[in-house]
Amino acid sequence: MRQYIIAGNWKMNKTVSESVQLASDIVAAVKDVKKTEVVIAPTYLAAAKVADVIKGSNVKLAIQDIHWKDQGAFTGKVSVDMVKEIGADYIIIGHSEQRQYFHETDETVNLKVKKTLAAGIKVIICIGETLEQRETGVLKEVLGLQIKGALAGVSAEDADKNVVLAYEPVWAIGTGKTATDEQAEEVHAYIRSLIKEIYGEKIAEDMRIQYGGSMKGANAAGLLAQKDIDGGLIGGAGLKADTFKAIIDAAE
Ligand code: G3P
Repeated sequence: MRQYIIAGNWKMNKTVSESVQLASDIVAAVKDVKKTEVVIAPTYLAAAKVADVIKGSNVKLAIQDIHWKDQGAFTGKVSVDMVKEIGADYIIIGHSEQRQYFHETDETVNLKVKKTLAAGIKVIICIGETLEQRETGVLKEVLGLQIKGALAGVSAEDADKNVVLAYEPVWAIGTGKTATDEQAEEVHAYIRSLIKEIYGEKIAEDMRIQYGGSMKGANAAGLLAQKDIDGGLIGGAGLKADTFKAIIDAAE
């Protein structure tokens, strides 16, 4: 049985003081959560203080991206040793907003994935199609390229224990247009079949695949009831403790 994982991707939201408050509110809200893995991803600026707030709680820390290089002349970036020092449990890699706005490619995703895993940190790898790709019938081709690109050279052991996938249909992100339960399950099952092709049955069954794209308290139960959906990567609904907790309640 795969453990549900619900992660809040705060994106470029919340000042440092607001992030500390939200993290504190979430720690309090989820203190009795037992079955679900709860993760929050503040901005870089807030990450160290948030790490202090969640220390000793059942909330884990994710960082929204890293550079694959070691420290050096890369203005605006952070390196994996910096996020390791503050105790990051996960790094989110390949988010569609990175791909859309910041030149992320399957190749750079792979470099970041391997750098992160080598540092002993787990990855949440984001994949997903645009509306045009879905409507022109290249969904499976796009997901195949993203998955095979991201996981090139990733060991079976890492794939089994340290990789979470997040399927985020780009057309559902921030739009309120959530994929239907059936649409999401169809794609999640296909993603799992690709993992089986690469790593075999056991790892395909072990790997957790989150859904992301306008998941809310109202639709979470239907999505999480799907056999191949193992959690959520949450944007807007993750920015308030009560709306984030409503999703976690659906997982519990
Ligand atoms: O990474 C999660 C995010 O892309 C989903 O955003 O606001 O549609 O929940 P949202």
